[in-house]
Amino acid sequence: MSEDTRTGVGGSHEPAATPPLPPYPSTVGHPLLHTVGSMRDVFGFRTRAMAERDLVRIKLLGPGDVYHLGHPDYFERVLLNDRDRFCKSEDFRIAFEGGLVAVEGETWQRQRDVLQPLFTRDSLVDYADGMAAQIRRRRDHWEPGTRIDLTAETSQLSLDVLFATLFGHELELGGDEAIRTAADRLQHWFAPTSYPLPQWVPTPARWRFKRGKRRLQRVATRLLEAKADDPPADPAAADDLLSLLVGLRESGAAEGEALSDDRLRDQVVTMIFAGHDTTSTAIAFAFYALATTPDVRDRFHTEVDTLSGPPTVDDLESLPVTRRIVTEALRKYPPVYTIPREAATDVTIDGSRVPEGAPVWLTVDQVHHDERFYDAPDEFRPERWDGDLRERLPDFAYAPFGGGPRRCIGRQFALMEAQLALAIIGREYDLVLDDPPAEPPMIAGMTARMAPDTEFRVVER
Ligand code: HEM
Repeated sequence: MSEDTRTGVGGSHEPAATPPLPPYPSTVGHPLLHTVGSMRDVFGFRTRAMAERDLVRIKLLGPGDVYHLGHPDYFERVLLNDRDRFCKSEDFRIAFEGGLVAVEGETWQRQRDVLQPLFTRDSLVDYADGMAAQIRRRRDHWEPGTRIDLTAETSQLSLDVLFATLFGHELELGGDEAIRTAADRLQHWFAPTSYPLPQWVPTPARWRFKRGKRRLQRVATRLLEAKADDPPADPAAADDLLSLLVGLRESGAAEGEALSDDRLRDQVVTMIFAGHDTTSTAIAFAFYALATTPDVRDRFHTEVDTLSGPPTVDDLESLPVTRRIVTEALRKYPPVYTIPREAATDVTIDGSRVPEGAPVWLTVDQVHHDERFYDAPDEFRPERWDGDLRERLPDFAYAPFGGGPRRCIGRQFALMEAQLALAIIGREYDLVLDDPPAEPPMIAGMTARMAPDTEFRVVER
C-alpha cells in the first residue's frame, strides 16, 4: 500500500459542495475490463480491487458503477445507523416478490414481527430432534470407503432439514429430484456470469432461476393447501412453521396481508433461497477445514468422543471446539460474501459521493480477511475465538449473518444445524480429502460455494 488511503471512516452526511465519486481502483486495469475480470474470478478480482481502499467503484456492464464497501464502520452505517438511506435492490423484489428478504418498511416490520418468534433459540429446540434425524438419515446412507460429493450432499441435507422442520414435509432421500433441482436453481439469479449483465439479457442462469422459482411456488402452494385443510386448533401447538402461520391466519391472530396466500408462498421460496445453500456451504467448508488442518481435526475428534451417546441439542453447550470450528468456517468462508443494498439518496462516505440509486455492496469476505482485525486471516484457526477476540473486534467486523435489524432471522437455526451436523457425522466418520488443494475450489452465486465434485472419502472412525 503506497499511502494510507484506507479507513478514516465517518465523514459528513451533508457536505457543502458536491463531493467527487470514489475513483476506480488502479489495481484491476481499465474500468471497461472490470466486468470480464469479475466474471472470471470474482474473489480474486475484488481482493485486488480493494487492496488500497475500503471504498471502491467497480464498473459492471449491467448494474453500472457498483460501490464496494469493505470496512466494519461502513457496514454499521449501512445496516444500522444510516439504514434508511440504503434500501434493498430491485433485484431482490423481482426475484423474491413479497418474501421477507425482499420487502421494506412497514411490510417488512410486520412480516418480521410475525416470523421472529419462530426463530428464537427456544423455539428452535423443538426442531432439533427433526434436524438430528435428517442428519443421521443422510449420514447413514453413505457407504464407508466410498467417495461423496460433499457440496451436493450438504446441499441435499440442508434441504432435507428445511422441509422436515419448517415445512413439516419429509423429502425422499434419493428422490424428490424436481424439488431439489428447483431449489438449487434459486442461486442462479445471482450467478456472476449473468448478474453483471443488463436485466433484459435472457441469460441461461436467469432462465434457470425463473423455472426453479415457479416450481417451488407450486410446491409451496400445495404444502400450504394441505395445511389449510387441517389447520391447528391452537397455533402455538403447531409443530412446524407452515402450520403455525396457517394457524395464525385462521385464528385471526395477525394482520391478513402478512399472511395472505401469496405472502406465505413467497416466504416458503424465500426460506429455501436464504436457508438452503447458506447453511450447506457452512457445513461443507467446515468439513473442508477439518480435512486440511490435522491439529483442529484431532481436537474435534477428542471432543465429540467425550459424548456418552449420539449427539443431541443438549450436548451443544458442551462442544466448544465444534462451535468455534463453525464460527471460524463462517469467518474464513462467509457463505454470503456480499450484502447488497442500493443508495436511496445521495450519500457521502469519507468525502466520496455515492449517488442515489447506486448499488452498494458490503464485502464481507474482505473484512473477514483483513489483517487490521484478524491475525493471520488466511489461516483456519478456531482457537482464535477462545479468548476475548469477540469483545476486541470492532462491531460488524464479524458479519456472516449481516447486522442491524435485518440480521439473518435464521442465524440460530443455521448454527444449530451446522453444529449438529459436525458432531453427528464427525462421531462416526472422518471425511478425508485426498490431495487437497491449498484453498477449496470456489464458485460464486449469491453464496460462495465449494465447487461441485469436490470428493471426500468416507472413512469409518
Ligand atoms: C450459515 C447460514 C446462513 C447465513 C450465512 C446467512 C446469512 C444471511 C445474511 C448475511 C442475511 C442478511 C442479508 C441482508 O441484510 O441483506 C440474511 C438474512 C436472512 N436470512 Fe439468513 N443466513 C443463513 C441461514 C439462514 C437460514 C437457515 C434461514 C431460514 C431458515 C435464513 C433466512 C434468512 C432470511 C429470511 C433473511 C432476511 C431477513 C430480513 O430481511 O429480515 N438464513 N441471512
